[in-house]
Amino acid sequence: MDQIVNKLLLSKLCTEGDNSIAVYNPADDSVIGYIPSLSSSEIYQKIEQSKAAQQKWQGKTASERSAVLQRWYQLVLENADDLARIMTMEQGKPLAEAKGEVMYGASFIQWFAEEAKRTYGETIPTPVASRRLMTIKQPVGVTAAITPWNFPIAMITRKAAPALAAGCSCLVKPANQTPLSAYAIAELAYQAGLPQELLVVINNHSSVVVGDIFCNHEDIKKLSFTGSTEVGRTLIKLTADTVKRTSMELGGNAPFIVFEDADLDAAVAGAVASKFRNAGQTCVCANRFYVHDSIYDQFVDKFITAVSHLKIGNGLDEGVSIGPLIDKKSKTNVLHLIDQARAQGAQLRFGGESLAGCFMQPTILSEVTQDMSIVSQEIFGPIAPVLRFNDVDDLIEKANDTIYGLASYFYTQDLNRAFKVAEALEYGMVGINEGIISTEVAPFGGVKQSGFGREGAKQGIEEYLSTKYLCIGGM
Ligand code: SIN
Repeated sequence: MDQIVNKLLLSKLCTEGDNSIAVYNPADDSVIGYIPSLSSSEIYQKIEQSKAAQQKWQGKTASERSAVLQRWYQLVLENADDLARIMTMEQGKPLAEAKGEVMYGASFIQWFAEEAKRTYGETIPTPVASRRLMTIKQPVGVTAAITPWNFPIAMITRKAAPALAAGCSCLVKPANQTPLSAYAIAELAYQAGLPQELLVVINNHSSVVVGDIFCNHEDIKKLSFTGSTEVGRTLIKLTADTVKRTSMELGGNAPFIVFEDADLDAAVAGAVASKFRNAGQTCVCANRFYVHDSIYDQFVDKFITAVSHLKIGNGLDEGVSIGPLIDKKSKTNVLHLIDQARAQGAQLRFGGESLAGCFMQPTILSEVTQDMSIVSQEIFGPIAPVLRFNDVDDLIEKANDTIYGLASYFYTQDLNRAFKVAEALEYGMVGINEGIISTEVAPFGGVKQSGFGREGAKQGIEEYLSTKYLCIGGM
């Protein structure tokens, strides 16, 4: 076992039993270890402890909080290789990609360590001569995060770092498939000097149990969720009784558009990166490709050539670029989408085969049309459905014809068109001549049923702050 697993994780692992959750390696279905499932009363106790710790933490200066986050950031960098190995083992993504995620996750800690010092209020010109008006920003209090398995570290730091920087505490419920990365990243925060009650990892056999407690507990003032739109809807309803602040980063159905004047090689490279990162298991993955009729065949040929070079295998092995899907259920769903599309008239141009265990071939489908079910569903797997278009207005209508509005992409060399299309796309994020757009310095988030709230950037910390208005009279 890796050094970090020994040093940081062994104390968190437990033996197989009723109160334990098995963690599997999706590459070979082996059990990596067991983690404890906390009872409801243990979770309530952790919330109480977190509340007490948060009250002290908010009394620290921004510089003091920032210093702890800076130390955490440094420790994540020092342990990046080990963190990446843990991630690959429990999540499946190739090691280089896992390392990329560790660095991406670390970037949120560094960014919010800096933003901690910039939570400015404002002075407001007074309408009454005897008064002075101002606002101050204060932490919302104890917060909770429910994070997904596709980014086991970055989705935690993107929520916990701004929470901690703002003076909040954060209880994290990681996905049951990937809790070891959560424990490891939290352990490094403790080593950096963060009191354990401020960043608490909570697992239970049932995500519903934890979700219910998080949503209904009076002392939890904010819930941040990354996951499916379906679960997001339930959480929004459940948080209504306590009128809790929420931010929701939900599903996507990203269009990837290639105009006739696009740099075709750049578009193909962007398409591969956007579609096949994490085996197609990201909320911002290109979900459907619209390619202008005049370059359609050329694009599809080049796309097939590029995808044929992707190496499938255990993410720990050298040179692998596509790992397994997270579990067999997920693979079954994805394969079903291929069968369904073919039955509806799509042509299988590459891949399409189920491989051993959780592995499957990256797949390209051509002659896909807007009415096919694969176009309206979030695929969450390595399938690229390619559609033809001719007319821009019709294209925009089709690109926007979805309940989702997270990421979108298009390739063109025409600046005029770039602005018009970017403005017309009903999405929270638009990549123009870029297939990977995520960064800690820009606001990540969606519109429509892809959710609300923004993560990263200067907006990210606002989600964890309340604005208080002060009116000073008798001047
Ligand atoms: C996600 O898939 O939810 C996050 C992807 C990213 O941050 O790039």
